[in-house]
Amino acid sequence: MQHLLTLEGMPRDTIVALLDRAQAFVDDADADHRSILAGRAICTLFFEPSTRTRLSFQRAAQRLGADVLNFDAATSSTTKGETARDTLKTIEAMGVHGFVVRHAENGAVAALAQAANPGTALLNAGDGRSAHPTQGLLDMLTLRQAKGADFSKLKVLIVGDVRHSRVARSDLHALRALGAGEIRVCGPKSLLPEDDGTLAGCTVTQDFDAALDGIDAVMMLRLQRERMAEGLVASLDDYRRDFGLTIARLKRASGDAVVLHPGPMNRGVEIDDEVADGPQSLILRQVANGVPVRMAVLEALLHV
Ligand code: CP
Repeated sequence: MQHLLTLEGMPRDTIVALLDRAQAFVDDADADHRSILAGRAICTLFFEPSTRTRLSFQRAAQRLGADVLNFDAATSSTTKGETARDTLKTIEAMGVHGFVVRHAENGAVAALAQAANPGTALLNAGDGRSAHPTQGLLDMLTLRQAKGADFSKLKVLIVGDVRHSRVARSDLHALRALGAGEIRVCGPKSLLPEDDGTLAGCTVTQDFDAALDGIDAVMMLRLQRERMAEGLVASLDDYRRDFGLTIARLKRASGDAVVLHPGPMNRGVEIDDEVADGPQSLILRQVANGVPVRMAVLEALLHV
């Protein structure tokens, strides 16, 4: 791999190898790994806000011994009209070897990868609604830790705004590659993808209560509030009533079902406090797993 742009088409063995390496970093948490990327420089190039992804990439790069540059779009020359491409080429000229990039446009990271020098690695930290591959990987690591490596009997439910979610797309690619037994998708029709193949092989429903029956893992998605302004959601109250994960609803899933959410959460909208902070929640485990997963990916792309 020169770049990590998407999980679409990534072979199962490659995903498993990255998850195995990430798990080894988890198991070996106190070891000193700083020789792995010593002398390498990585820039976090975010044109959209982030807490988890940016900081866990920074933490991962530091744990591997890399030098880390943090680009802040709000105080950068992009405010004077400099393009993303010129920004990348400018920072690359300073001797940076890898870029972790988030951008609002679909395909923007792939376009920047085309512009980069041979040998420069680009890692997609989320582009438009297309892909968020390291989120997909950390979600799979979290599921694997909770439910075991054999996904063939796993019943997973993804709930919410799948249409606009890069997380959902990367999760779907990874779940299919790992052979998940059953994937159900639930959300208002207005927030489900058009017939573009995104939901191939999934059971699709608008009935959240029925969809939860027998489910092993519920992956909640953030309601992007701008969808209300677009008229795609009637009201937050309606959304919570139909698609909010409450304690009462969670009882319909398997007794040992786990709950995931990529964050940031709209508490009291798509997920209630009692669920987010309850014993079945793996939400902070997902955050923790972001560091070893990103260590595994950075090592795979940048170790020489
Ligand atoms: N899950 C996720 O991408 O969170 P951030 O936007 O905080 O990085």
